[in-house]
Amino acid sequence: MALIQNWLPPSRENWELIVWGFQFFPLFTATQWFVSYYPQGKTSVESRFNLPGKWAWATMEAPGFITLLYVMYTLPKQQGIESLPWANWTMAALFTIHYIYRALLAPLVLNPSMSPIHITVWASALIWQITNGLSLGGWLGGYGPTTVYDWAGRLYMIEVGLVIWGWGLLGNMYHDDDLREIRRAAGWRQKKEAEKTGKPVQSVDKVYMLPKNGLFHFILYPHYLCEWIEWTGFWMIGGWGCVPARSFVLNEIATMLPRAVQGRKWYVDKFGKDKVGNRKAVIPGLL
Ligand SMILES: NC(=O)c1ccc[n+]([C@@H]2O[C@H](COP(=O)([O-])OP(=O)(O)OC[C@H]3O[C@@H](n4cnc5c(N)ncnc54)[C@H](OP(=O)(O)O)[C@@H]3O)[C@@H](O)[C@H]2O)c1
Repeated sequence: MALIQNWLPPSRENWELIVWGFQFFPLFTATQWFVSYYPQGKTSVESRFNLPGKWAWATMEAPGFITLLYVMYTLPKQQGIESLPWANWTMAALFTIHYIYRALLAPLVLNPSMSPIHITVWASALIWQITNGLSLGGWLGGYGPTTVYDWAGRLYMIEVGLVIWGWGLLGNMYHDDDLREIRRAAGWRQKKEAEKTGKPVQSVDKVYMLPKNGLFHFILYPHYLCEWIEWTGFWMIGGWGCVPARSFVLNEIATMLPRAVQGRKWYVDKFGKDKVGNRKAVIPGLL
């Protein structure tokens, strides 16, 4: 059943248009290099157009994997494809695993607190997620490889890609958790203090410290770097010619790289040059 005729799932013509257009996304994010206004996370602002961080994050990120799965379940029927190859489902599973963690578990279960997210950031991320879900979902659901023969001779690359994807995801989760630990520890300290003084427990919203473990020793955004590594492994599984997987990782880098560089400046302003030291933003020793 098509939810929106020719768009959900997309017709081949519309899918090709989406994939073509999505390649130019970095042109839009180029503005992030010149404009520091980004009303989310560390740089959130007070506004009546803010949404609560945890729910905003979940609702802007989850539509990506839901779109991808919906397209993969509906498009093959429309295309007269009986069943998709196992490698298509493997890629869909990797995408879904990541986003169950990123869109649901991280904000709604694991993160002690999240800053409010402005509705403009929420809407942009939502559009990005749906576009990415359509782009990848169309490729996996019938417009890319449709038989095991299309994957023939690619087992080695798939295996290496899987290993890279797995290490990337673990690195991303590890460094995310190092940030969470800062607020968990602050929460325990504040609870103890409140018990001692009898005053109410303070919230851990907007408590920031310099993270130090793992790759935080060298860079301030290792969780970003690990995520790029993860999706490079995913691209490798799809093959270097897989434009939707390539756009996915390049578009992530295009939006997250300026954010990390500005984030380093934010750390220097907050904690001082001496405390930040030689740590780079996101590429050890370089940037
Ligand atoms: N931002 C993007 O465009 C983007 C795109 C794709 C994937 N991702 C992935 O999504 C995850 C989160 O991204 P993000 O941009 O929100 O990362 P982030 O700015 O580093 O924030 C991650 C979480 O840690 C908290 N936090 C950040 N720095 C902290 C510090 N120094 N001390 C204590 N707590 C700190 C944040 O709280 P506050 O919310 O209160 O600041 C937030 O809950 C990352 O793993 C990233 O790879 C992000």
